[in-house]
Amino acid sequence: MCGIIGYRGTGKGPAIVIQGLKKLEYRGYDSWGIAVKSKDRIKVRKETGQIGAAKGLDATGDGSTAIGHTRWATHGNVSRENAHPHMSTDNKIAVVHNGIIDNYQELKTRLANYKFVSQTDTEVIPLLIKENMDKGHDFTTAVRLALNDLDGTFAIVAMHEDYDQMICAKKGSPLVIGVGDNEFFVASDSPAFVEHTRDAIILKDNDMAVIRDNIGIMNYVTGEDVQRDISRIDYSVEDAGKGDYEHFMLKEIHEQPDVVNRTIQGRISKKRTLLPEVDIDMKKVKRIVMVGCGTAYYACLVGEYMIESISGIRVETEYASEFRYRKPLVDRDTLVIAVTQSGETADTLAAIQEAKRKKAKTLSVVNVVGSSIARESDQVVYTRAGPEIGVASTKAFTSQLCVLYLLANMFAGKDPGKIASVGKLIGKILKDEKRIMEIADQYHLKNNFLYLGRGINFPIALEGALKLKEISYIHAEGQSAAEMKHGPIALIDNQMPCVFIAPKDSTYSKIVGNIEEVKARGGSVIAIATQGDEQMKKLADDVIFVPKEADEMLQPLLTVIPLQIIAYYIANYRNCEIDKPRNLAKSVTVE
Ligand code: F6R
Repeated sequence: MCGIIGYRGTGKGPAIVIQGLKKLEYRGYDSWGIAVKSKDRIKVRKETGQIGAAKGLDATGDGSTAIGHTRWATHGNVSRENAHPHMSTDNKIAVVHNGIIDNYQELKTRLANYKFVSQTDTEVIPLLIKENMDKGHDFTTAVRLALNDLDGTFAIVAMHEDYDQMICAKKGSPLVIGVGDNEFFVASDSPAFVEHTRDAIILKDNDMAVIRDNIGIMNYVTGEDVQRDISRIDYSVEDAGKGDYEHFMLKEIHEQPDVVNRTIQGRISKKRTLLPEVDIDMKKVKRIVMVGCGTAYYACLVGEYMIESISGIRVETEYASEFRYRKPLVDRDTLVIAVTQSGETADTLAAIQEAKRKKAKTLSVVNVVGSSIARESDQVVYTRAGPEIGVASTKAFTSQLCVLYLLANMFAGKDPGKIASVGKLIGKILKDEKRIMEIADQYHLKNNFLYLGRGINFPIALEGALKLKEISYIHAEGQSAAEMKHGPIALIDNQMPCVFIAPKDSTYSKIVGNIEEVKARGGSVIAIATQGDEQMKKLADDVIFVPKEADEMLQPLLTVIPLQIIAYYIANYRNCEIDKPRNLAKSVTVE
C-alpha cells in the first residue's frame, strides 16, 4: 500500500520519478506527489487522483535528487494536504513514507511546538528530523534518531535542501535500491526502475542507506555499518509492461500457460517432485495449517484438498488475520504454510511470526523474491509468476496452485507428472476467449451473481465471485453448491445468474441436481463444464468447456480461467478501472 520512489543521479530526477510512480500506482492511487531538489531548493507538487490523469505534468525540470509517492489513504482523507511528500515547517526536509506509524499521536503531542498541516501519521517524520536538527544534529544523525523514535511499519525516503544526499530506511515495509551507472533508485518495488537497471539491493529491516555518489548502509538501531549484496532482477522490462494488452489483468491472464510451465520447470522428474528448497522431515509433521488472505486464502483452500487427498496429511486452512488473533494451537509438530503473492501482506506476515513464536515449522509460497514473508519463513518456495501488476490476482493464483500441487506430491512421495500438461490445457481455454466475452456481454448489466461449486471447485467458486466483485463492483457471492438449500436458494429468480463450476468429477451428479434446482426456480445458469458434456449443454443456459485431460486435483487450474475472463470482460463492458479498482491496492501492508 502506497508506492515510494527516490532518485539520486545525473539530473533527470523529476522525469524518472514520475515514470516510476506510474509503475507503482498499483500500490495505491488516490493521490500522488513529488519533491525535486533543483538549484538547492526543494520544489513540491501534490495532486489528488491518479498521476496518469494529471494535466500539465512538468517532468522536465532539472534535479539530481527527487522523491515521489502514490498514496492509498490510511490516516486522513484524500486531499492535497494529506498527499506525500510531507515537509518540515521550514520546507527544507521532504519525506515520503509507506506503512503506518503506530505511535504518531504520542509523537504529535511531543512535537506540539511545530505546526502540523495534514491529518497523516507520516508528518511526524519530517518534524522529528527537524527537531533533531534544531538540536544541532546533522541530517544523517537527525534521520537516524527520528527512526529510532518510530513504532510501526515504514519504508521512507527523505531529502534535505542543504544536503547533497538522499536517505532511505525500512522496517516492515519493502524497499529496494536500484544501482545504475552513477545513479541510484529507491523504490517500494523494482518495476519502478527496472528499465534503468536490473542490479538491486534488497534492504532488510532496520537498514538505513545514505545515498550520495555511493551508498553507505547502516543498522539505524545499533549504528553499525552493514553490507548488502547486489542481486540481479530476474525479469525483463517487457515483463513489467502491458505490451499490446489494454490492461495488465488481461496480459496476466494470457501469461498463465507460460507461468505454469515456468513454475514447474525443473521441479518434476520421472517419478519424483523436486523442491530442494524444502527440507522438512514430514514424519515429524502431524498437521499442516495453511494461511493467506483473499485470493491467496482461496489458493490455500484448494491446497488443503490437494494435500489431504494426495498425501493423507491433516490440513486446516485459516485466514491469516484470524489465525494471529485467536491463540492458535500450533506447536513444533505443526507445519504452517503461508501463501502470498507480494510476500508483504501484514496479516500473513504476522501469522508466520506467531507460528514461529509457537515453535511451528514455517514454509512460505511466495512470488516476490526477497520479500518480508520469504525472509521470515524457515523455508520458501518461489512461484516464479513474474511481476503481477493488475490489482486482481490471476497468474499468481494459478502459480500458487501449481506449487501446492507439487508440495502435496512431494509430501506423498508421488509422481506429479500430470501437471506437465496443464500449461497447454490453459492455452486451449484461452482460445475460447471470444465466446466467453460474448457470455460476459450478455450478463454484464446484472446486479448480483452467485458462484457455486463443490469439492475442490468450491474454493474456485469463492475466487470467481471475488474476481467479479473486486473489478466490476457487482455483488457476487461464492457458495458451496451443497449449501444452497440451506438458505441461498431463496435468492434465486430470473435476475440472479448462477455460475456453476461443474466439471466431470466425483461431485458431478450432485451438482447436476443443484443446477436442476436453480432452473426449476427460473434462475439462469452459466456452467463451467468438461469438454464433451452433452447433458450440461442441454441443462445450462450457457456453457464454457474446459479440457477433460486434467485429473480432479488439477481441475481448479483450468476452471478458474473462464471465471477470470468473465470477470475481466464484464468489468470492461461496465467501463470499470480494471487494473486499479476503487478502494483497493495491490499489496495490503496494513492490518
Ligand atoms: C484479489 C487479491 C487479493 C490478494 C490478497 C493477498 O484479487 O489480489 O485478495 O490475494 O490481498 O495478497 P498477497 O497474495 O500479496 O498476500
